[in-house]
Amino acid sequence: MKENIVWHQPIISRQQRELQNGHRSFILWFTGLSGAGKSTLAHRVEEILFQNGCRTYVLDGDNVRHGLCSDLGFSPEQRKENIRRIGETAKLFMDAGVIVLTAFISPYRADRQMVRALAAGEFIEIFCNAPLRVCEQRDVKGLYLKARQGEIKEFTGISSAYEEPQNPELIIMTGEEDLNDCADRIIAYLHQRGVLPNIDFVI
Ligand code: ADX
Repeated sequence: MKENIVWHQPIISRQQRELQNGHRSFILWFTGLSGAGKSTLAHRVEEILFQNGCRTYVLDGDNVRHGLCSDLGFSPEQRKENIRRIGETAKLFMDAGVIVLTAFISPYRADRQMVRALAAGEFIEIFCNAPLRVCEQRDVKGLYLKARQGEIKEFTGISSAYEEPQNPELIIMTGEEDLNDCADRIIAYLHQRGVLPNIDFVI
């Protein structure tokens, strides 16, 4: 399919964009069960980064499935395609010098691994580790109940697998810890990794 297609070298490089922005670009990949708090945490971390002068964008599962991935369901093949598209999109954002935060269940190790390889070292996997019991109790969208009643097939955690990350950069206990404490831990990790502007963050 790539036959007769030639890569065009851009004039402005990612490194130049990073220099102008004053920070590195990378992917913060939030993974975990539905209702584990991925989106809430990703948006809180984005808010902190944005308020401290970083270029950021959140790609969120529920939103992306209204547009770019509106043709996809929840079979293993379709979830794989969902994550492939998000991975490619996140890579484009990264090329644009942006810190991209993604909030997708992304239940399969192989799919997350595929994006990690695509991002070539700029992939930070954050396991939002809230037990199924807690997510189901919260049931913010009422989907767990529907899944238990058999109204939703292949629901992650109920009738479809979630493969926990084995070596994530960060494990956040989103079922127990306070939202701001979770966000602070992520920001501290990023400072330590040397990918943020070298300033004292205002939180
Ligand atoms: S993923 O598995 O392909 O990564 P994604 O994060 O895009 O999933 O979408 C998950 C969201 O879709 C959930 O938060 C939930 O609101 C909704 N959803 C609808 N059906 C399902 C299902 N069968 N399994 C999981 N989530 C579902």
